[in-house]
Order: sequence, then structure tokens, then C-alpha cells
Amino acid sequence: MRLLFGLAGTALMLAGAAWANPEQGTPAERVLLPVPSVCSSAADTPVRLPLRLRVYASERDAAVVAEQLDVLNTQGILTGLALTSHSEDADVLCTLTAAGPGEQEGYEIRLERAGETGERGVLRLEAASPSGLFYAWQSVVQALNANRGEDGFRLPCFTVSDRPLYAWRGVMLDVSRHFFTVVELKRMIDAMSLFKLNRLHLHLTDGPGWRLEIKKYPLLTAMGAWRVPTIKGEWNWREIELAAGERDPKATYGGFYTQEQMREIVAYAQSRQVTVVPEIDLPGHAYAAMHAYADLICDGVDFPVEGKRGNDTLCLGRPETMRFVQDVVEELKTIFPPGTPIHLGHDEVAMNTWKKCRYCRRKLEELNEDDDKALQRDFLRRAAACVREGGYEAIVWDEGAELDASPSLSVMAWRGNEQAAASAIKGHPVILSPCSHLYFDYYQSASPKEPKAVGGLIPLKQVYGYRPPELPPEKRGQVRGIQANIWTEYLGDIESVEYMMWPRALALAERAWSEGDPADYSSFLARASLALRLLEKLAVRYRPLEEQEE
Ligand code: ACM
Ligand code: ZN
Repeated sequence: MRLLFGLAGTALMLAGAAWANPEQGTPAERVLLPVPSVCSSAADTPVRLPLRLRVYASERDAAVVAEQLDVLNTQGILTGLALTSHSEDADVLCTLTAAGPGEQEGYEIRLERAGETGERGVLRLEAASPSGLFYAWQSVVQALNANRGEDGFRLPCFTVSDRPLYAWRGVMLDVSRHFFTVVELKRMIDAMSLFKLNRLHLHLTDGPGWRLEIKKYPLLTAMGAWRVPTIKGEWNWREIELAAGERDPKATYGGFYTQEQMREIVAYAQSRQVTVVPEIDLPGHAYAAMHAYADLICDGVDFPVEGKRGNDTLCLGRPETMRFVQDVVEELKTIFPPGTPIHLGHDEVAMNTWKKCRYCRRKLEELNEDDDKALQRDFLRRAAACVREGGYEAIVWDEGAELDASPSLSVMAWRGNEQAAASAIKGHPVILSPCSHLYFDYYQSASPKEPKAVGGLIPLKQVYGYRPPELPPEKRGQVRGIQANIWTEYLGDIESVEYMMWPRALALAERAWSEGDPADYSSFLARASLALRLLEKLAVRYRPLEEQEE
């Protein structure tokens, strides 16, 4: 990124022992999480800022800044922010500069001395885009919050010049196995935005529930979003009983998002620089859809019994299936703006039912192929083409990359770095979400006190220590980002999700944004303890740091 303020950094000393006295204020570099690209603090007396900051932006930028101040005031960590039309007495000056390539999310901050006595500080925020400016604000929130006194903020002058390592800094939440409300998702979005996480991938469909209203297929939610309650905390897929009909009085557990509600979530996320990524898991993990619409099921399958034994893959021979996918994608496009990635699943596809299905056999003949994988390849090509119409982007789990798919297909590599590297080398854009380091439904410690989880063990330090796969230099650019996945078999309420997510998502945020050393865990831990206090202000639950195990 361009250094907008040239040599400013050279006039400042890197902060160190000079700030051992807490009266002097904590320097920004000891506070910010994710750690910024370049940050330095002055070693002379701190400056003051009032608790209620007056913010100036030119007429051109005022609407963007006003919207961001609304978000910040609502988030409630830094409050009383108000626009002023006088630059002379403003505490913060915001400027949007012309964007250069690769600078979309970067920003710069300078806290300088102002006024006659030099005791007053003035913050200058510059960015090339609203997202960059929003991230400047989030860094300001962290720096000021750590230096809050009764009558104002007091901290050393500092400069930050920052930009992200990866464009995709995501979290996936499985809303199929358990449903989470609009209010709960909004809280998650706010918490993510504090740490510059910018993709919320919603796993909207799977065997145990279909969670998005599709007007052309009302039974998807009338039957697929509700089930007979099981004993709280227990997870047994075979015992899950979805609604038997449109208004099954026994099926009282579940829920779904109306299209209007999903638009509301998308807009809320957008104002916090988060893109909501919808996933329709295809062609496997489709039990809920098949339960509602029997013409998606292969011929010759005893579905109510076999579907629960992993034979939950759509029939790829019947024309109804592709029509269904096209119709669902069409409706997604009325909710999500162009450019949104649409995730088409393709993980763990069981192919058994295609073997004896006369529709699938006929389709394979039409394709002039004899390997069942050809059915899936043809299906993926057509589904991805349908997504791309109108400027949307198609994504699949990494098994999809093995189908000889187009290099323009993005791949989310969940099985590990090996699959990520193979996909990158084939030319796919790749998002790293390995189950070895970034599955936040796995246990955080081996303590018997941990709430019941699906299995596995991924302590905080392991998340922080994640290193992307080694790639030849010309392929490194294929990695778009990293993402943690939260499957919810055992996470029946949002507090349980939050406990599994934080503080591990802080480690994710730093790995996704910063180029720092994954081995420098102690610096991270010190900053994480401040970050968790911000989450408390949003009433977000987390696992205490003191309970971390080596
Ligand atoms: C996955 O964990 N099946 C993507
Ligand atoms: Zn079939």
C-alpha cells in the first residue's frame, strides 16, 4: 500500500519499554488485533481525546462516514460519535482517497498533536474505500478503548498503515442442524466486524433442515425447516424426524429465514463490511429437500429408510433436479446482490443410488460416459453456469475440484492443505478451511469440563499456528483467504456457538489479516485478552483465556 504520510514513521520511535508506566497510555501496537502491517507510537507525552468525538468529513464523503458512525454508535463500544461540519475543531478527520489496485481494504491512521498547548490529539483516518475506512475505525475503537479514562482517552501519538493479507476472512455457520435467529446472526456479524472478518458463510441446507424460504418450493420450509424435538443436547441423525406434512403438529422445533429476513441480514452485514455467502449443499446432504419433493429422489430407492443411511443424494438423471437447482438459484439472486459467491456444496457425495436408477442410467448414456462421476461433473458444470449468469460466483467444497471442473470455480478446501494445494495448482481460487486447524466445532481442550462436542481437538494455539500450504511462487496468488467452519450437531443455541467460536476466531482473524509470525503466540495472547473485553460489550460469550491449555 502507498504510504500516504511518507516519512512520518521515521519521526516516531517504535514503542517499547518507554511505555511501561500505565499513566502514559498503552501504545497502539500492544492493543490492535489483528496486528497491523506497520504501526508505530511516539515516545513523548500522550495526547487527549474527548469521550464524545466530533468527526469531520468533506461533503463528498459525509454520507459514507455518517453511516459508519451510526454502526459504531450502535455497536456501543465507542459512542457519542457525531459529524461536524467544522474541520478546525474536529477530533477525527476522515478522508476517502482515490483507490489504487489492491488497496480496497487498506487504511492509514495518524494520531497527532493539535491545538495550542499540544495536549489535544487529532485523529486522521484515510482509506481508499468505505471498507478501508470502516477498518480504520475498528482499529481506532480498539486503540481508544484500551486507553479510556473517566474524562477522555489519553494515549501516545501513533501511526498505522495497514492492509489485509487475504481478501476472504470467513466464518461458516451451519444453520441447518440447528436454526439461529436473525438477531443472533446480527450479533455474530457485529462481533466478526470488530476483528475485520468479512465473510459469513451460511450453510443453509443439509439433511436436518432447509432454512431459506423458496417461494416456488414452499414445502422446503413447510416440511424441511421443522422437526419433532429431541432431548436437548443429544444428536442422533437417524432419530431426527422432519415434519411429515405441511402443518405437522408434532414438528415444532426449527425455523427458517424468510426472503425478507435474509435481505435484512445481507444489508446489516453489508453495513459492517461482511458479505453473506449462501450455501445450498448439492447434490449430497440433500435429505431435507428430497423429503419435501419426492421427484428429486432416484428411482428404486426406499427413501424414508435409505435416505437416513447416507443415501441422501439428489437424482442427477431426472430433469426435475436441474430445474429445481435453477429455480432455487434464481430466487437466491433476488436476495443476494450480483458478485455474491453462491456455494454449491459438493462435499461427501454418496453415489450409491445412481447405480440402480433408470433416470441416472439413461442420463449417463446420453452423456456417452460409463463412470458415475460423469453425472456429477455434468451436474456441477450446469449448476455453476447457472450461478454465474448475472455476475455471481460459484464455490464448492474441495471434492468439486476433483471433477475436472473449470478453473474459474472457487474451491473451499476443508479436507486439508494437500487438497488446497492440488486445487491451487489446477488453477482454482482457493479458500483454506482445513479441518485440522479451522473446525471450530472440535473441542478446545481435553478437559472433561468441556461441553459435549462432535470430536477432534483444536486448541487456540493450534489455530494461531496454522500455516498455509507451500506453493510455487506463481500459484501463491490462488489463495484467496481462510475460513473457520462451525458445524452445529452439538451446538443447539447461539451461546454454545459463541463459546466454540471465541477466542479461536481471534486467532483466525489474525492469520487471515496479518503477515505476522504464527509462532509469536504470546503477543497474540496479550492482545486477545483486550479483544475479549470488546466481545463482552456485545454480550458475546467466549471461552476464557485462562482456561487455555498448551
Ligand atoms: C464438510 O466438512 N463436509 C465440508
Ligand atoms: Zn437417479
